[in-house]
Amino acid sequence: MDKDGLSILDNRTNTTYEVPFHKGTIRAMDLRKIKTGPDDFGLMTYDPAFMNTASCHSAITYIDGDKGILRYRGYPIEQLAEKCTFLEVAYLLLQGELPTASQLKDWINNITYHTMLHESTKHFLEGFRYDAHPMAMFISTVAALATIYPESRHVHDPEMRRLQIYRLIGKVPTIAAYTYRHGLGYPYVYPDNDLSYTENFLNMLWRMAEVKYKANPVLARALDILFILHADHEQNCSANVMRSVGSSQADPFVSTAAAAAALSGPLHGGANEEVLRMLDEIGSKDHVPAYIEGVKAGKGKLMGFGHRVYKNYDPRARIIKQAAEQVFEVTGKNAKLDIALELERIALEDEYFVKRKLYPNVDFYSGIIYQAMGFRPEMFTVLFAIPRTAGWLAQWEEMVIDPEQKIARPRQIYTGYEERTVVPMDKRGA
Ligand code: SDX
Repeated sequence: MDKDGLSILDNRTNTTYEVPFHKGTIRAMDLRKIKTGPDDFGLMTYDPAFMNTASCHSAITYIDGDKGILRYRGYPIEQLAEKCTFLEVAYLLLQGELPTASQLKDWINNITYHTMLHESTKHFLEGFRYDAHPMAMFISTVAALATIYPESRHVHDPEMRRLQIYRLIGKVPTIAAYTYRHGLGYPYVYPDNDLSYTENFLNMLWRMAEVKYKANPVLARALDILFILHADHEQNCSANVMRSVGSSQADPFVSTAAAAAALSGPLHGGANEEVLRMLDEIGSKDHVPAYIEGVKAGKGKLMGFGHRVYKNYDPRARIIKQAAEQVFEVTGKNAKLDIALELERIALEDEYFVKRKLYPNVDFYSGIIYQAMGFRPEMFTVLFAIPRTAGWLAQWEEMVIDPEQKIARPRQIYTGYEERTVVPMDKRGA
């Protein structure tokens, strides 16, 4: 009997199997030897939504959900948000180490060099209705970049991967800004390479007739912090999609578009937009108790609350709440903050939420800041997708170079008919 494993007794055959532990798991393939006879396929695991399944080894992000810990490459998110810029953190996620000054300079130059979009992309965007949802435009336009860079499908060429990573991190703010301007009927603003990553994003969003855009440094820094907090989150739904689509050796543009599509769902990155709709529906602090009673009665979810991994306060929500104060000093306080604070206060004392370990997550306060900065709710998930592109690319590249990874193709438990014979048309429905 191996102390560093399981001894599994199959009562059907009275046979005991030794299954070794693997870093706190057992390898599912080690269960296939558990059979009732030579024709038996062997034992599989059944885990809908992968509630208890590790799909990969990863060294990028570490989360301890019970303690509310989040680290990128070992660095606590609180330190990164306080001491770094977003592009510095993007370098960390992708390269594994914080950059030196010269490495960061080269990194910024390479990304800045790739902020422009091919002119055909503007015509592609013009095809959308005036009221098209920015997230749907973002997803489609990121995928369309694959038509401009077909060489990106050479995913096993490190130089080719690096070039697409520069292109995607450089271009997603431009695409995001263009979707915003399209919705308003404003002309597109070209990137200004004199500006920082977030200053340039604000420039492409909000420059009008002035010759040179001057970003508010408080808002630019707040956006940088928000981008750091949203950059990666280990094997979340959209990261899983990035890995799964990328596992077929699809190019990084269509893989990123697929990941962004997953992010757009209201249970994932789409929640920040839903939080604002929820706060609008509540309308005032006085209505909060009644709304919470409705949630407890099953009339919907408290958007921005709860998390598959965090069973404690999401550390990102705490930092965003602090960043909100700096933003409101510039923009003026957002009245919805009072409703959100009252919602949080009541929910954190209520047995229904306490028992289910439901705390505010990253989406609960981010929308309030974005709205105060002048963004419409439809843009909120696009603002999530911009920084998360760096995290998706780090997860994608780690998967591509992992010798254990191959095309993702889960099994199933078949619950359909056994074999049956096709009935002629005139005999059907009898
Ligand atoms: C993100 O995975 C990541 O890391 C994601 C993310 C990232 O950075 O990539 O952190 C970003 O997606 C944050 C989550 C944003 N989504 C929301 O805020 C939407 C509201 N939250 C829920 O839909 C839910 O909490 C999830 C989707 C986030 C997590 O769902 P789970 O883990 O599948 O949990 P569950 O739905 O099984 O809920 C367990 C119980 C249920 O009650 P019972 O059946 O036990 O009676 O808790 C209840 C749920 O009804 N519950 C909620 C709730 N979330 C869970 N009840 C009210 N309001 C909620 N928000």
